[in-house]
Amino acid sequence: MTATTPAYAWLNGRLVPWDQCVVHARSQGAFWGANVFEGIRVYTGPGEGELSAFRVRDHLERLRRSMKSLHMEIDHTDDELARACDDLVLANDFGTDAHVCVVAYFGLGPNFDPLAHTTETGVHITSTPVPRSAAFAAGVSASISSWRRIGNDAMPPRIKTGANYHNSRLAQHEAVRNGFDTTLLLNARGTVAEAPGSCVVMVRDGELITPPGTSGVLEGITVDTVATLAREQLGIPLHRREIDRTELYVCDELFLCGTMSELLPITSVDRLPVGDGTPGALTRALQDHYTDAVRNRGAHPEWCTPVARAAGDGPTGAVRASEEALA
Ligand SMILES: Cc1ncc(COP(=O)(O)O)c(C=O)c1O
Repeated sequence: MTATTPAYAWLNGRLVPWDQCVVHARSQGAFWGANVFEGIRVYTGPGEGELSAFRVRDHLERLRRSMKSLHMEIDHTDDELARACDDLVLANDFGTDAHVCVVAYFGLGPNFDPLAHTTETGVHITSTPVPRSAAFAAGVSASISSWRRIGNDAMPPRIKTGANYHNSRLAQHEAVRNGFDTTLLLNARGTVAEAPGSCVVMVRDGELITPPGTSGVLEGITVDTVATLAREQLGIPLHRREIDRTELYVCDELFLCGTMSELLPITSVDRLPVGDGTPGALTRALQDHYTDAVRNRGAHPEWCTPVARAAGDGPTGAVRASEEALA
């Protein structure tokens, strides 16, 4: 146990103590990563004591698309999942920005066969305190990975399943062993795909460019936010086209974007400085607009869902109900 271990998690319909958020080791979800998931950020603000979940409905829609691709059904509606996220965040009461992981998993299956068809599924939700990374200001170094990004014909990156993250893990760990903060993976065609857990956006001659959804990437919600902010706030469209490896060496600015990483400047690639080796002006401007958007000070309040107690629930109502259920 560390000081930051959350008090509660959510498992199949109720809050449980963190240590009791347990899935069987032989479930297909735990054994083979046969699950789908979403990472959602909850931000403090705009007022004192206020919290809001950023683009939570878009995340739950993507979760449904991942589930559809795996012929998976769960016992909970999106409203129930959104309510569960709120209950969990309020119960844990971190007092800082939080990250919430919603995971829908396949259960044991007949004869404990990890490959057997099963309709047995469950959902677990965990949240951890995740304040903004110091790298938001300082930027990160990136390598080009020796690992290729998985492709749509074998392990579709569009499906956000735990199993895909074996590829991310190989790449990230190689990069860290070699002294980089992170890495960028190329796809089977040799063009740029994405980072282990983020999309990538390049600035070249004033243009914003990201690889298309057919380049071996997750269809990112943050990159969609960036596209909207760039168009509306700066009058710059985000182009989606393939990016060559060597374009990364000569571009003016480069940044990662993802729910967890937010907008992280990449200041070098393969030890070559990006631009002058410091976060660029366009990246900075987009970071500022992004900060306003996630803290509900921007032009899109519909992106920020207030995290609120259920009607009629007391300050600890959801927790009390769960504790009674456990007793
Ligand atoms: C592999 C991968 N690519 C891209 C992203 C960025 O997606 P989003 O902006 O929707 O968080 C993520 C984050 O979940 C990811 O895991």
